[in-house]
Amino acid sequence: MQQSHTTTVVTLGLAGGQGKSTVALMLGRYLGRLGIPVLFVDADPQSSLTSFLGVKVQPNTPTLLEVITTTEEKTPLINAIAPVPDVQLDNRTINNTNLFLIPSDDGLENANYKLASSGISLFILRNRLQPIANNFGVIIVDPPPERSHLAQTSLGAGDKWIIPAEANVKGVQSLVRTLELVKEFQPALPYGELMGVVPFRAKWTGVNPTKATKSSISAMGEIVGLDLMLPHILESDVYKNAINQRVSPTDLGQPGLEYPISVLAQKLKPTLPEQYALLIPTETV
Ligand SMILES: Nc1ncnc2c1ncn2[C@@H]1O[C@H](COP(=O)(O)OP(=O)(O)OP(=O)(O)O)[C@@H](O)[C@H]1O
Ligand SMILES: [Mg+2]
Repeated sequence: MQQSHTTTVVTLGLAGGQGKSTVALMLGRYLGRLGIPVLFVDADPQSSLTSFLGVKVQPNTPTLLEVITTTEEKTPLINAIAPVPDVQLDNRTINNTNLFLIPSDDGLENANYKLASSGISLFILRNRLQPIANNFGVIIVDPPPERSHLAQTSLGAGDKWIIPAEANVKGVQSLVRTLELVKEFQPALPYGELMGVVPFRAKWTGVNPTKATKSSISAMGEIVGLDLMLPHILESDVYKNAINQRVSPTDLGQPGLEYPISVLAQKLKPTLPEQYALLIPTETV
C-alpha cells in the first residue's frame, strides 16, 4: 500500500569514509532531479554534507545544533532550512530547486552533551522534524561515524536505514559494528527498517572484481543475507569529481555510475507519498 507520509532515510556506518555522506548526497540529488522535494539533514559536526552541497552557514542563522538543543518556539525549524544553491557547470546551470538542507558546523559537537542529558536522544530529531516533514517527499539524514548521541538521534529519525560499507576488511568490520547498533535500538524503533547494504568503492580490474572487493562483498552477504545486498558503488574519480564540482555523475556524462543510486530510489518508491512515487521511473538505468 502507498504511504502518505514522508520517508526519512538515514545512511549509517560506524567508521570514517564508508560512503555515508556520498550515498546521502547522491540519493538526494537523484530524487531532486526527478522533481521530488528533498530535505537533507547534516547530523555530522565534520559537516561534509553541508560543504558538499555548497551551503554556507550564515552567522545568526540556526543550524542543526539549535534545532536539536532548543524548542520549536525558540528556534522555528523553518528558520534552519537553507536552500541548496544552483551550480554552474561549464555553460550549464544545474538546478537544485528541490534541494534543502538543515546545515551543521563543528559547533554541532555540543549537541552530544545536551542529548546525553536529555535521556530521550533517540527521538529528539524525529520529533523536531515531524511538523515540517510533509513539505518534503524524502528527508535524508547524514550522521557522524562514531557511536555518539548524534548517531543515535539520527538512527531514531529513520524509517529506512542504508548501510554503506567500504568493499574491504575495514568495511566489513564497520558493517558488523553498525548492525550491532541497529540491533540494540531496533526494539525501541518499530517503524525503522534496514533497507540494505551498499558496498562502497568496489574495485574492478577489467571484468573482474579485485580479490579484496570480492571477498569483502561476499562476507557482507553472509552477514546480512543476500536479500539485503544492494548494488555496489564503483571506485571512481568521477564520483570524487562530481562531489567536488557539486554535481552528479550523470551531469558529468556518466549516468551508468548512478545505477546503484537508481536502485535505492526504486526501493524507496513504494514508501513515498504517491505524487512523488510517480516521478520515479519504473525502469532502472
Ligand atoms: N565512487 C568513489 N570512488 C572513490 N572515492 C569516492 C567515491 N565516492 C566518494 N569517494 C570519496 O570517498 C571519501 C569518503 O566518502 P564519504 O565522505 O561519503 O564517507 P563517510 O562515511 O561520510 O565519511 P565520514 O565518516 O568521514 O563522514 C570522500 O572523500 C569521497 O570523495
Ligand atoms: Mg560523512
